[in-house]
Amino acid sequence: MPVVVWKDEYSVGIKVIDDQHKELFNRVNKLFDDVSQGNTKTILTTMDFLSSYVVYHFDAEEQLMAKANYPELENHRKEHEWFKHEVSDLRDSISKDGVGVTTTLKLNKLLVDWLINHVTKTDIKFAPFVKQVVS
Ligand code: FEO
Repeated sequence: MPVVVWKDEYSVGIKVIDDQHKELFNRVNKLFDDVSQGNTKTILTTMDFLSSYVVYHFDAEEQLMAKANYPELENHRKEHEWFKHEVSDLRDSISKDGVGVTTTLKLNKLLVDWLINHVTKTDIKFAPFVKQVVS
Protein backbone atom coordinates (compact mmCIF):
# COMPACT_ATOMS: atom_id res chain seq x y z
CA MET A 1 0.00 0.00 0.00
CA PRO A 2 1.51 3.37 -1.03
CA VAL A 3 2.52 5.74 1.77
CA VAL A 4 2.14 8.85 -0.38
CA VAL A 5 -0.72 9.08 -2.84
CA TRP A 6 -0.87 11.84 -5.44
CA LYS A 7 -3.83 14.19 -5.07
CA ASP A 8 -4.94 16.91 -7.48
CA GLU A 9 -4.54 19.47 -4.71
CA TYR A 10 -0.74 18.83 -4.84
CA SER A 11 -0.60 20.12 -8.41
CA VAL A 12 1.39 23.31 -9.01
CA GLY A 13 -0.31 23.63 -12.39
CA ILE A 14 2.86 23.00 -14.41
CA LYS A 15 2.86 19.57 -16.04
CA VAL A 16 6.61 18.98 -16.10
CA ILE A 17 6.87 19.70 -12.37
CA ASP A 18 3.74 17.72 -11.45
CA ASP A 19 5.11 14.73 -13.40
CA GLN A 20 8.40 14.94 -11.51
CA HIS A 21 6.58 15.16 -8.18
CA LYS A 22 4.57 12.05 -9.10
CA GLU A 23 7.79 10.20 -9.93
CA LEU A 24 9.26 11.36 -6.62
CA PHE A 25 6.23 9.96 -4.80
CA ASN A 26 6.67 6.64 -6.69
CA ARG A 27 10.26 6.41 -5.52
CA VAL A 28 9.30 7.28 -1.94
CA ASN A 29 6.69 4.50 -2.01
CA LYS A 30 9.26 2.06 -3.37
CA LEU A 31 11.53 2.99 -0.46
CA PHE A 32 8.82 2.36 2.13
CA ASP A 33 8.04 -0.99 0.47
CA ASP A 34 11.69 -1.90 0.90
CA VAL A 35 11.72 -0.66 4.50
CA SER A 36 8.80 -2.97 5.26
CA GLN A 37 10.88 -5.89 3.88
CA GLY A 38 13.79 -4.88 6.11
CA ASN A 39 16.71 -5.64 3.77
CA THR A 40 19.28 -2.91 4.46
CA LYS A 41 21.18 -3.43 1.20
CA THR A 42 18.01 -3.04 -0.89
CA ILE A 43 16.93 -0.03 1.17
CA LEU A 44 20.26 1.70 0.55
CA THR A 45 20.05 0.99 -3.18
CA THR A 46 16.55 2.48 -3.28
CA MET A 47 17.66 5.49 -1.23
CA ASP A 48 20.37 6.13 -3.82
CA PHE A 49 17.79 5.74 -6.60
CA LEU A 50 15.53 8.25 -4.79
CA SER A 51 18.40 10.67 -4.06
CA SER A 52 19.47 10.80 -7.69
CA TYR A 53 15.95 11.74 -8.70
CA VAL A 54 15.75 14.38 -5.96
CA VAL A 55 18.90 16.01 -7.35
CA TYR A 56 17.52 15.87 -10.88
CA HIS A 57 14.18 17.36 -9.80
CA PHE A 58 15.63 20.11 -7.60
CA ASP A 59 18.07 21.12 -10.37
CA ALA A 60 15.19 21.26 -12.87
CA GLU A 61 13.13 23.48 -10.57
CA GLU A 62 16.06 25.76 -9.77
CA GLN A 63 16.84 26.23 -13.46
CA LEU A 64 13.23 27.17 -14.17
CA MET A 65 13.12 29.56 -11.21
CA ALA A 66 16.35 31.19 -12.39
CA LYS A 67 14.99 31.51 -15.91
CA ALA A 68 11.85 33.14 -14.49
CA ASN A 69 13.87 35.50 -12.24
CA TYR A 70 11.94 34.15 -9.30
CA PRO A 71 12.80 36.41 -6.33
CA GLU A 72 12.63 33.61 -3.74
CA LEU A 73 15.05 31.32 -5.57
CA GLU A 74 17.80 31.46 -2.93
CA ASN A 75 15.46 30.62 -0.05
CA HIS A 76 13.95 27.83 -2.09
CA ARG A 77 17.39 26.48 -2.92
CA LYS A 78 18.27 26.46 0.78
CA GLU A 79 15.25 24.22 1.48
CA HIS A 80 16.43 21.86 -1.27
CA GLU A 81 19.95 21.77 0.17
CA TRP A 82 18.61 21.08 3.66
CA PHE A 83 16.52 18.18 2.36
CA LYS A 84 19.41 16.62 0.42
CA HIS A 85 21.58 16.88 3.53
CA GLU A 86 18.92 15.19 5.69
CA VAL A 87 18.47 12.36 3.18
CA SER A 88 22.22 11.86 3.10
CA ASP A 89 22.41 11.77 6.94
CA LEU A 90 19.61 9.21 7.07
CA ARG A 91 21.36 7.10 4.47
CA ASP A 92 24.54 7.11 6.58
CA SER A 93 22.57 6.17 9.66
CA ILE A 94 20.81 3.29 7.84
CA SER A 95 24.13 2.12 6.44
CA LYS A 96 25.56 1.92 9.99
CA ASP A 97 22.59 0.72 12.03
CA GLY A 98 19.90 -0.53 9.61
CA VAL A 99 16.31 0.69 9.88
CA GLY A 100 14.69 0.70 13.31
CA VAL A 101 11.54 2.39 14.56
CA THR A 102 13.25 5.77 15.07
CA THR A 103 14.70 5.79 11.56
CA THR A 104 11.36 4.78 10.05
CA LEU A 105 9.71 7.70 11.86
CA LYS A 106 12.42 10.05 10.59
CA LEU A 107 11.95 8.74 7.03
CA ASN A 108 8.23 9.36 7.35
CA LYS A 109 8.68 12.88 8.65
CA LEU A 110 11.15 13.77 5.91
CA LEU A 111 9.86 11.91 2.86
CA VAL A 112 6.16 12.25 3.52
CA ASP A 113 5.47 15.25 5.78
CA TRP A 114 8.28 17.54 4.64
CA LEU A 115 7.93 16.64 0.97
CA ILE A 116 4.18 17.22 0.81
CA ASN A 117 4.55 20.43 2.79
CA HIS A 118 7.32 21.62 0.45
CA VAL A 119 5.30 20.85 -2.68
CA THR A 120 2.09 22.45 -1.43
CA LYS A 121 3.51 25.47 0.40
CA THR A 122 6.89 26.29 -1.19
CA ASP A 123 6.78 24.95 -4.75
CA ILE A 124 3.34 26.39 -5.35
CA LYS A 125 4.70 29.92 -4.83
CA PHE A 126 6.93 29.79 -7.90
CA ALA A 127 4.09 28.64 -10.15
CA PRO A 128 2.93 32.08 -11.37
CA PHE A 129 6.54 33.00 -12.27
CA VAL A 130 7.61 29.69 -13.83
CA LYS A 131 4.40 29.38 -15.85
CA GLN A 132 5.65 32.36 -17.87
CA VAL A 133 8.77 30.52 -19.01
CA VAL A 134 7.50 27.01 -19.70
CA SER A 135 5.72 26.28 -22.93
FE1 FEO B 1 9.50 20.16 -5.98
FE2 FEO B 1 11.14 22.53 -4.57
O1 FEO B 1 10.82 20.76 -4.89
